[in-house]
Amino acid sequence: MKLIWRLKSLNKYNNWIFKLAIATLFLGLAFRFFFYQSTSLEPNIETTFADGTELSKEPVSSVGSSKPPPVTVDISRPPLAVDIPKPTSSANTSKGSLPADLQEPDNETPQKELNAGKCDLFTGDWIPHPSGPMYTNSSCSLIEGHQNCMRNGRTDSGYLFWRWNPRDCQLPPFNARRFLEVMRNKRWALIGDSISRNHVQSLLCMLSTVDQAVEVYHDEEYKSKRWHFPSYNFSITNIWSPFLVKAAIFEDNNGVSTSEVQLQLDKLDTNWTNLYQSLDYMIISTGKWFLKAAIYHDNDTVVGCHICPGKNLTEKGFVFAYEKALRYAMNFIATSKHKGMIFFRTSTPDHFENGEWHNGGNCTKTTPAKEGEIELKDLNKILRTVELAEFEKASAKAAENGVNLKLLDFTNLLLSRPDGHPGPYRQFHPFAQDKDAKVQNDCLHWCLPGPIDYWNDVIMEMAING
Ligand SMILES: *[C@@H]1O[C@H](CO)[C@@H](O)[C@H](O)[C@H]1NC(C)=O
Ligand SMILES: *[C@@H]1O[C@H](CO)[C@@H](O)[C@H](O)[C@H]1NC(C)=O
Ligand SMILES: *[C@@H]1O[C@H](CO)[C@@H](O)[C@H](O)[C@H]1NC(C)=O
Ligand SMILES: *[C@@H]1O[C@H](CO)[C@@H](O)[C@H](O)[C@H]1NC(C)=O
Ligand SMILES: *[C@@H]1O[C@H](CO)[C@@H](O)[C@H](O)[C@H]1NC(C)=O
Ligand SMILES: *[C@@H]1O[C@H](CO)[C@@H](O)[C@H](O)[C@H]1NC(C)=O
Ligand SMILES: *[C@@H]1O[C@H](CO)[C@@H](O)[C@H](O)[C@H]1NC(C)=O
Repeated sequence: MKLIWRLKSLNKYNNWIFKLAIATLFLGLAFRFFFYQSTSLEPNIETTFADGTELSKEPVSSVGSSKPPPVTVDISRPPLAVDIPKPTSSANTSKGSLPADLQEPDNETPQKELNAGKCDLFTGDWIPHPSGPMYTNSSCSLIEGHQNCMRNGRTDSGYLFWRWNPRDCQLPPFNARRFLEVMRNKRWALIGDSISRNHVQSLLCMLSTVDQAVEVYHDEEYKSKRWHFPSYNFSITNIWSPFLVKAAIFEDNNGVSTSEVQLQLDKLDTNWTNLYQSLDYMIISTGKWFLKAAIYHDNDTVVGCHICPGKNLTEKGFVFAYEKALRYAMNFIATSKHKGMIFFRTSTPDHFENGEWHNGGNCTKTTPAKEGEIELKDLNKILRTVELAEFEKASAKAAENGVNLKLLDFTNLLLSRPDGHPGPYRQFHPFAQDKDAKVQNDCLHWCLPGPIDYWNDVIMEMAING
């Protein structure tokens, strides 16, 4: 059986003839995808790996044109003269205390202008950072078990000693104290799926080096949470809304899908829209959940589905739903008269090799990749293409309405960090019993501390100086 990705509308705003078709449908395969829903930080969540879901495979070929998809990551510039050196051997993780170097001077590129507002913070390189992250698994208690690579026994630590360095501008390191001072009395929210949760924990850990975050709210399922920093009357809410639109998700106690997601493409999820006007800053994202098997509703009518054999419904392909949902969410934002700052973050690339997450894929690198070494996977390209196109349209409209909408596109930053994922260390000491144990790898989420900590450098720069 064939699935058709309908990318017609992409053609409208791209000059490429871009038709992707054909992917295999995996009947009978009960894939487990690890956008697991468990969010409690209690140790006993180690076993809840996944919410089961059916996931279509990446498209295996493009049809109609051999041209690449319209938006690709530009990694074609001339190779760097220098290979990325390994961190010095003196760098290690034994720092028990914090914060080692909040004010670490950046004197590596003094000639760069401090005009981050005008330069591209998303094009850069990972450079050695001997002093390492500002927090550790011991100094921060808010790291989810699955991403707590240090505690889980990851043996190498080289991945911790790199810092993101934009090419044409100076990016000061995240300064937790200054951030909290500027954000006094402000409310932030990170809205999205488990990658947003991954990010919120990174931000909380960095801020906790200055003031302890107090959890002041969680929903019944521990999916959405809010923390307060009492000395600064500053709050961060993590809002669980993996689709941004209304969705009924059916999962059993183990997080295995028992039925297709029922997705309302023309109704926004009130989990975030109810809080929207009360927030000062938001980072909104979505992505991989749209790959799941789903029935699509529009105007209370079933209009099609994605991966629903035997249902006598039109297979629409996930791009159909992704475009529609994203356009709706973006339109809501762009016309909202919101007075704060809203970041739209593109979805993040994964680094599964030798397979995918469900069939033994792993990620074994321990250093950042060299430029051009890793290409963005087709599936990630497709998602990002839709995201950038919808952002672009919304951003014009937002500007007209005085809405401050900004793009966070960390694709380049993350693509070169295949070493930053938990891999087998999503579990606690996976090889303690059997050094050859077969364990499922996570090459999608990010170790904490880890590369996504440097998102916060960029976000702080944009929020404060941008
Ligand atoms: C890590 O650093 C500490 C203090 O700088 C040092 O005592 C220790 O030997 C180092 N460990 C390794 C494995 O390099
Ligand atoms: C942090 O990780 C180290 C191993 O790197 C481990 O010995 C320690 O128990 C962990 N601490 C916490 C609080 O998880
Ligand atoms: C704390 O911040 C909220 C806005 O986030 C504001 O409404 C409230 O008045 C502030 N409280 C104090 C004590 O300043
Ligand atoms: C909204 O939040 C609730 C509670 O966390 C969650 O069960 C529900 O799935 C969320 N809604 C959507 C559309 O994801
Ligand atoms: C939605 O459905 C109702 C009745 O089913 C119809 O009257 C209305 O025109 C539809 N709206 C749109 C935008 O198609
Ligand atoms: C499938 O749907 C079409 C159009 O809705 C309908 O004509 C047809 O009878 C249905 N087939 C089955 C097997 O239900
Ligand atoms: C990664 O997967 C490949 C293919 O299954 C396997 O040969 C290799 O040993 C794996 N590496 C690790 C470190 O598990």
